[in-house]
Amino acid sequence: MKDGKFITLGIETSCDETSIAVTAEGREILSDIISSQIAVHTKFGGVVPEIASRHHLQNINGVLDQALSEAGISLAEVDLIGVTNGPGLIGAVVIGVATAKALSLAAGIPLVGVNHMHGHVSASYLQYPELEPPFLALIVSGGHTNIVEVTDYNRCRVLGGTRDDAVGEAYDKVARVVGLGYPGGPKVDRAAKDGDPEAVRFKRVYLENGSLDFSFSGLKTQVLNYINRERMAGREVNVADLSASFQQAMLDVLVDKTMLAAEQTRADRLVTAGGVAANSRLRQMLAEACGARGIRLYMPEPVLCTDNGAMIAAAAYYKYRMQGPDDLSLDAYANLPL
Ligand SMILES: Nc1ncnc2c1ncn2[C@@H]1O[C@H](COP(=O)(O)OP(=O)(O)OP(=O)(O)O)[C@@H](O)[C@H]1O
Ligand SMILES: [Mg+2]
Repeated sequence: MKDGKFITLGIETSCDETSIAVTAEGREILSDIISSQIAVHTKFGGVVPEIASRHHLQNINGVLDQALSEAGISLAEVDLIGVTNGPGLIGAVVIGVATAKALSLAAGIPLVGVNHMHGHVSASYLQYPELEPPFLALIVSGGHTNIVEVTDYNRCRVLGGTRDDAVGEAYDKVARVVGLGYPGGPKVDRAAKDGDPEAVRFKRVYLENGSLDFSFSGLKTQVLNYINRERMAGREVNVADLSASFQQAMLDVLVDKTMLAAEQTRADRLVTAGGVAANSRLRQMLAEACGARGIRLYMPEPVLCTDNGAMIAAAAYYKYRMQGPDDLSLDAYANLPL
């Protein structure tokens, strides 16, 4: 406790960000330190799991010290430790979980394991103090694409998901193919701003009538085929036009299906979550679609969309209040369902 407020430490190491945050009363961010490994993985064109684990191991104590000192909190004042225990790169998740357990045991602080995807959804609680479940959520990240009904702080019902590539994965793959490099999403986002979304007409894949599932793997093949055709014909590919056209084809389906889900569940509130929720075109399209239907839209700022410790602390706070602590047998999982 600090000044009568419940203090949570949130630890996130599931991919290539070593992040630790301190929150007060679940929703107030006192510090959120994010040590990104982007520079390390860029030369390999993507995240190399073993290198990610080693960097978490090297960085985590420094990130912890920084998170506590920036928040002006001592470890003795921490009431709860929340840690991502899946899904993610297993070697990376293990570093966070082992750190959390050691701290919990040494300082006698309760511990809870957090599903990384619940963490993404909980990012909005940090930005919107009035937001409470139930609501509809669109989760779009590097490894996941889901439309879910969040029925309570710690419970949700999956309405639809991708049958192959996640949206972030499609962004990253296409960025590599067109030569924009890693991390792909932000680079395609930037390039698309100068391009014409109608320049290349890619097929939109909607699957069965009324389905809330997605399939994005074919779009990558369409992009590849287009590039090959243009090169064979001796024409230079316009990266801005291609980026804008690819992005529009994917986002059209994403936004249409999210609106269909809102209609099917009569939702009047939509929360966006995950790294791709930082995308400027998606934000613009959702704002228009929700505005036209009277749906209130909650979009956390970009730094809260990508992986961070604060969202894990927010999720941990509510999980602890509803279910109590986990014990020290807490395990780490590469796959962990929502
Ligand atoms: N502005 C943007 N536009 C599009 N995509 C973006 C943008 N910013 C980040 N991304 C994408 O978001 C993904 C990273 O998000 P996030 O950190 O949530 O994913 P992850 O943690 O790797 O996966 P998961 O959360 O599913 O385990 C990457 O695929 C990245 O390209
Ligand atoms: Mg993530």
